[in-house]
Amino acid sequence: MTLWGGAFSQPTDDAVRRLNDSLRFDWRLYEVDITGSMAWAEALADAGVITAAERDALLGGLERVRAEFAAGQFVPAPTDEDIHTAVERRLGEIVGPVAGKLHTGRSRNDQVATDVLLWLLDAVPRLTDLMADLMAALLEKAVAHTGTLMPGTTHFQPAQPLTAAHWLLSHFWALARDSERLEHFAEAWRDKCPLGSGALAGTPYPIDRQRLAERLGFRAPAPNSLDAVADRDHVAEYLFAAALIGAHLSRLSEDLIVFANPAFGFVRLDERYSTGSSLMPQKRNPDPLELARGKAGRLVGHLAGLLTTLKGLPAGYNKDLQEDKEPLFDAHDTLITLLPPLTGLIGALTLVPERMRAALDEGMLATDLADYLVSRGVPFRQAHGLAGRAVRLAEQKGVSLSALTLDDYRTLSDAFGPDVAQVFDFDAAVARRAVFGGTGEVAGQIERARAWLSGRKPLS
Ligand code: ARG
Repeated sequence: MTLWGGAFSQPTDDAVRRLNDSLRFDWRLYEVDITGSMAWAEALADAGVITAAERDALLGGLERVRAEFAAGQFVPAPTDEDIHTAVERRLGEIVGPVAGKLHTGRSRNDQVATDVLLWLLDAVPRLTDLMADLMAALLEKAVAHTGTLMPGTTHFQPAQPLTAAHWLLSHFWALARDSERLEHFAEAWRDKCPLGSGALAGTPYPIDRQRLAERLGFRAPAPNSLDAVADRDHVAEYLFAAALIGAHLSRLSEDLIVFANPAFGFVRLDERYSTGSSLMPQKRNPDPLELARGKAGRLVGHLAGLLTTLKGLPAGYNKDLQEDKEPLFDAHDTLITLLPPLTGLIGALTLVPERMRAALDEGMLATDLADYLVSRGVPFRQAHGLAGRAVRLAEQKGVSLSALTLDDYRTLSDAFGPDVAQVFDFDAAVARRAVFGGTGEVAGQIERARAWLSGRKPLS
């Protein structure tokens, strides 16, 4: 028996059922679906719609259904369309006809919207905890490499020297923002409990929606029942956050893939986090990093897919909205599967300071050469031109900037003095950038990163 067949004289076509049914993926909502149903049974009793004894029968039965699911003993019936109908069908088998009172004044539309929100509120801290583990690994590696210098790039061309710690922490802060973004979203979701919206117009029973919302851990009920059943903003927000995390993990991975290439040799991947080739014995392939980079595409795709689903929908619930769940679960599973190996990989990563330092080129001090002239009273724009000419002169002579003689420099400008030699010191160039957030202030940054990690509180 379906839960809605009264007006129908024929059963649903089998092929349509296979298309329509969502239990194969939305069973994952069982816990939140039952939590929502328990709160609804309480609300119905509070409103005098069912008796206290009926409420208790429903609560006891729902508890048993939950236990069956948790123990992996729930047996789906062929008529179970989705998790909501499956739970109600089983509840009826357990408690008898009183189960038929649970859906009074409720619709699967407000039910599913509530379920997904509750699921998300639970999913966010599970994700941000794993992100914090990766951030801790990045931070720990940074602490070990505050004195390791490497070439920083812009346009992927050698630009200025950086500490390796500064580079590692650049990825830390991107993840910190992603984590804050998710927690921000989750906070806002707490203001819009959909339950009590009915199918679209609200419920005719005197339900105290504020109380119901609070029972489920929300701060307030959704303000418009029609919006509440059709809104999937929260899923889109989660998918956006997931896509951006994917992009950030992909950028981290790309850095590591390049740096692990023997032509760079800045890092070595631990054997446990790389794989070999079936043909070429010398290969050490960064597969986990490539998968991280590849999965970013999949995460972006989920966001684009959902937004496309949402954009043309008329007011109210439409079955198109059932398409929110597979991308949502897949995005979550993708990140949950991806983060732990990346955390392990970073923890076991070897940086090769000699290779990083050997890649520093004095050309990366040309800005410092210009700044030297600034300290001697030359306006920066002119100093930039003179330093550029010094670079060209060194290239013409086939030497490095520090190998140019004072006379060479003086042919360019009288502003050069014998102390110009002091410019050609990579460590000093790093140390000079001691402004807040600069590479020479990485010790302070490490303190702030530590404070960020220790200040983050789990949401629930
Ligand atoms: N499985 C459905 C979904 O995920 C539940 C809501 C169904 N509502 C309805 N009116 N058919 O969207």
